[in-house]
Amino acid sequence: MKDKIEALEREIIEETIKSPEEHEQFRIKYLGSKNRIKELFLEIKNIPNEEKKEIGILLNNLKQTAQSKHDSFTPKLTKKNKSQRIDMSRPVGESLVGSRHPLSLIRSEIIEIFSRVGFSVSEGPEIEDDWHNFSALNFPPEHPARDMQDTFFIKNSDKEMSLRTHTSSVQVRVMEDDSPPIRTISPGRVYRNEAISPRAHCFFHQVEGLYIDEDVSFADLKQTILYFVREMFGEKTKIRLRPSYFPFTEPSAEVDIYWGLKTESDYRITKGTGWLEILGCGMVDPNVLQNSNVDPKKYSGYAFGMGIERIAMLKYGVNDLRLFFENDIRFLNQFRSGI
Ligand code: PHE
Repeated sequence: MKDKIEALEREIIEETIKSPEEHEQFRIKYLGSKNRIKELFLEIKNIPNEEKKEIGILLNNLKQTAQSKHDSFTPKLTKKNKSQRIDMSRPVGESLVGSRHPLSLIRSEIIEIFSRVGFSVSEGPEIEDDWHNFSALNFPPEHPARDMQDTFFIKNSDKEMSLRTHTSSVQVRVMEDDSPPIRTISPGRVYRNEAISPRAHCFFHQVEGLYIDEDVSFADLKQTILYFVREMFGEKTKIRLRPSYFPFTEPSAEVDIYWGLKTESDYRITKGTGWLEILGCGMVDPNVLQNSNVDPKKYSGYAFGMGIERIAMLKYGVNDLRLFFENDIRFLNQFRSGI
């Protein structure tokens, strides 16, 4: 038995391990579940009792020898491994700084422009009840004007709700909660059930403005809009107002800015007129004031609303609305700003 142990010990010492494959073979042979040392352990039962202890110690030592030989093997670094080593002395590379989303930039710019003339910012829920999105704004039930804004309705157990189609809903909330003078803009996301195309999406962003005080006139509205477009598009920008219809304002108008006809694309986007529509506006209908607990005999006001995407498309020369929502990093990287 002792001879066998000695022979196996020599064999283990003489084994060479040069590769991970040989390392594994060594493990199977001497340390695996049916290894050579184990075989010798099994023979212990055949030897006389008085020798058992000594043989047991020898076998345990043998096991130790095999284990340490196994553990001492470290694979040599191959060429590939070398190149993966980290060079701690290398200078660090430039880290990439993200950019703000173009819609967020334009939104901030609009807020900035209006805050300079005293407008606060108000926000409200995107899931709205009928009152705030429609009824308070002078859209009676069954009124055909409700079809102007294709609505996503949400069935709630007790109440029919909808995704707001405009942020005019926020203005109703502000009028209900505060008392005049009110001068606020409400930026936010709105939803309409429209087919997605380069010019329309089922959700987009608006900024709507509201000014309520004593003796607010249409001239105030016109001047505020003129101030806004000149800050946004340049000092010489011209505007024109065309009569329009909104249930919540009377009179109502749509505002165009003069874009010019210098390039072929100017002809395309202005349909050959040089004028571009950028927002809707009007004097708040007395019914709307009444609905929102504002006394129409004492107060008057104006409101306006614009799409942030539309302003961004004009400012940045983007011709497909969908680009704003795809989050393609190549598109987004072009908008860098310190704002
Ligand atoms: N709420 C209108 C819309 O979504 C915009 C608007 C606001 C028009 C205020 C007039 C006055 O189209």
